[in-house]
Amino acid sequence: MVTVRAPATSANLGSGFDVFGVALDRPADVVHVERADRTTIEVTGVGSQYIPTDPNRNVVGAVAEALDAPAHIRIDKGVRPSSGLGSSAASSAAAALALNELYDRGLSREELVPIAAEGEAVVSGEAHADNVAPALLGGFTVATDEGVTTIDADIPLVACLPEIVVSTRDARRVVPKQASIDDLVHTVGRAATLSVGMCRRDPRLVGAGMDDRVVTPARAELITGYDEVRSAALAAGADGVTVSGAGPSILAVCGANDRTRVAAAMLEAFDDVDVSAQAYKTRVGSGAEIF
Ligand code: HSE
Repeated sequence: MVTVRAPATSANLGSGFDVFGVALDRPADVVHVERADRTTIEVTGVGSQYIPTDPNRNVVGAVAEALDAPAHIRIDKGVRPSSGLGSSAASSAAAALALNELYDRGLSREELVPIAAEGEAVVSGEAHADNVAPALLGGFTVATDEGVTTIDADIPLVACLPEIVVSTRDARRVVPKQASIDDLVHTVGRAATLSVGMCRRDPRLVGAGMDDRVVTPARAELITGYDEVRSAALAAGADGVTVSGAGPSILAVCGANDRTRVAAAMLEAFDDVDVSAQAYKTRVGSGAEIF
């Protein structure tokens, strides 16, 4: 048997829609795989009642098929499904690394990124890699059609997860089809600032670089209390706030000593609009680990 832990991730970071991602040091999924004649799936843990065990409908079934690696796969969910924290990517990445090891396929983590992304296609209809790349490689990742580059950044974060369900498919439907040249220039500037901030491990630059005028405002409409929570986090000292992935989680970047205050302010702001939430005080972390 092979066991792999793969972390939650946060994609987009505002200005890097479908490109940027970070691994979070918590929460995480744990996946156990054992050789079998055909793939069967068992799911336990947070939100497991919502996850199909049919290999044709579960992300890890697609990964097992892509690696031609039938197995009994047990997923212990630590990342809530439809959270905006890369729940399906954590399972896909863990399964890809575990099955690669179980069957001695010899693929590198970089080579496993498109295979794990096949799992993403099962849930969102598109095989984007901005969650599976950091889940496998760790750090801050830039996933483009040229491949993935990664920076071992160390940035404190707060991820606040409300009890709201936003499906990735719905969140993709509201993305504007076009953007003006002014918004394009703004986005490029902010994305570049964010990348420099990651290289310098500077939360202020990362926070400034999260600002996005195109995708985030459309998606914020799907999250009850987004404006209130964002304002509260900034007032409590956050350097930047944005929607995490497709939402509904909201991600704040701040100094390490500000995380407790920022997390409390975000939870209180959700409470003020009658939404229950939980907050993870976290940071940019490492990729999937084989036990
Ligand atoms: N980049 C993707 C999106 C990540 O925002 O739709 C969601 O899984």
